[in-house]
Amino acid sequence: MTEAVHTQRVFSGIQPSGNLTLGNYLGAVKRFVEMQDSGIETIYCMVDLHAITVWQDPATLRKNTHELAAAYIACGLDPKKSILFNQSQVSAHAELGWIFNCVARLGWMNRMTQFKDKAGKNAEKVSLGLYAYPSLMAADILAYKATHVPVGEDQKQHVELTRDIANKFNHDFGTDFFPEPEPVIAGAATRVMSLRDGTKKMSKSDPSDMSRINMTDDADTIAKKIRKAKTDPEPLPDTLEGLEGRPEARNLINIYAAISNQTPEQTLAQFAGQQFGQFKPALVDLAVAHLAPISAEMARLMSDVAEIDRILGDGANRAAAIADPILDDVKDIVGLIRSRS
Ligand code: AMP
Ligand code: TRP
Repeated sequence: MTEAVHTQRVFSGIQPSGNLTLGNYLGAVKRFVEMQDSGIETIYCMVDLHAITVWQDPATLRKNTHELAAAYIACGLDPKKSILFNQSQVSAHAELGWIFNCVARLGWMNRMTQFKDKAGKNAEKVSLGLYAYPSLMAADILAYKATHVPVGEDQKQHVELTRDIANKFNHDFGTDFFPEPEPVIAGAATRVMSLRDGTKKMSKSDPSDMSRINMTDDADTIAKKIRKAKTDPEPLPDTLEGLEGRPEARNLINIYAAISNQTPEQTLAQFAGQQFGQFKPALVDLAVAHLAPISAEMARLMSDVAEIDRILGDGANRAAAIADPILDDVKDIVGLIRSRS
């Protein structure tokens, strides 16, 4: 079979589960903005159907979805250039997700490390949705035949599963319908770590608010969290090897580099030999200068949720215009009759 040539298209999503962090920003949203300005079609989703795989209070879910939309826009996503919408408004995601549940194998799902982490010892009690979640993620991406998926390091395995699902679907039905999308994991901070423990990922759900910088934090809060971030007593080295075994130091260097669009090597060249007492104030200045305007703009946008809803509705119409014909083709390939007028 000859390989089909697939038009380049970018898709990514973030769960509206509150507390959007600096990790989400540097690992994902910053890249979304760069790709928006690269000339490829870009589609960015608030994946509310993923969020409800764990309990969400309805009013809070609505607020978090608005807040995530506000964050997307405040960070530089332009609803005219990118398609911005919440997942549940485009039913193709759920429908294709079901078809993919019938393509993906149990053995594949059992290897997903995020499920194991999230379910922990409680695997019998978590929702069936949490287990099936990676196959819905594959549907999110493939409903648009997306070719590039900007994500943080922790999502690599899910994008690889998406490739496996695309491949098996193509193979089973003797077609080259779906592309095999590639993860785009780039920048100096693809895995931002907790400010309290450099071996743990910075996470929305960490019980300690001091462990993360939230995109809604004001200047004083950002400064306090960085000043209190765990470090070690050594001065900064002049090479990356010198950061080995110093996860907290490595993390702060990565954060500085990622915000200032440098490589970690360039950041070290600037601060080699300095103590954290000197480096941290520089990081505070950089982070506040970059992040405070974003949180201010988010607050402004949140004062008009009707406008956010209008943007999401318009984005959902444009998203559905792409996904619905793709889903129709999938139904035809699978043998599902479509005879409604
Ligand atoms: P989530 O908050 O789990 O919906 O993640 C949304 C996006 O942010 C995904 O692309 C993640 O890989 C990315 N992300 C989340 N936490 C981090 C982190 N600590 N460092 C880098 N990227 C992250
Ligand atoms: N699973 C991703 C996360 O938790 C969110 C997500 C859902 C996603 N669907 C996606 C990311 C499609 C990229 C593409 O971070």
